[in-house]
Amino acid sequence: MQLRLAVFASGGGSNFRAILENSRSYEVVLCVSNRASAGALTIAKEHDTPACVVNPKEFANKADYVQELLGVLRQHGVNFIALAGYLCKIPGAVVSEYSNRILNIHPALLPDFGGKGFYGMRVHEAVLRAGVPMTGATVHFVDEEYDTGPILVQARVPVMPGDTAQQLATRVLREEHVLYPKALSLVASGRVTVSGRKVTIHPAT
Ligand code: GRF
Repeated sequence: MQLRLAVFASGGGSNFRAILENSRSYEVVLCVSNRASAGALTIAKEHDTPACVVNPKEFANKADYVQELLGVLRQHGVNFIALAGYLCKIPGAVVSEYSNRILNIHPALLPDFGGKGFYGMRVHEAVLRAGVPMTGATVHFVDEEYDTGPILVQARVPVMPGDTAQQLATRVLREEHVLYPKALSLVASGRVTVSGRKVTIHPAT
């Protein structure tokens, strides 16, 4: 499938940058943020990538918000969405319209350390508290809940003795920047199918 990708980002946007700068097999056609001050918007500008702010809090009701979101996606011919540090829940109507065509990246090895409340530094703090020797990053398809959709790929990252949450976050983020563009390239190659919760990566021919 020729991917025309929208990247949704609320924060610094380092994953967005990695996705943009490795976009050989897919095209990034839009950046969407809920925050006018998101770093991702500056990165979009630097790369001449169209960007817009759609803030759910600025709409009188959910239906108007959904209509605006779907409107900008259609207007830019978006056929696939990558969430990269996007902190708003994707409305059910958008998940349905883009069924199995939305990916998210999470900075831990799902299904552990995921779900509501597990975002940002909280994820890494929980990993350290649990004392596990291994963490990582997960790219998964998005369903209507937080971090529960079918898993596409994961990268493992060791927890080092004496790690702070910040050190761990930095080590995981470095892997995210490799993993996410790879995951998107896999989808773009047409080798990925999703059936229920099962993701299959077919061999290259
Ligand atoms: C990443 O750790 C990602 O896994 C999580 O939010 C963070 C976003 O970082 N969902 P950035 O904005 O891409 O730098």
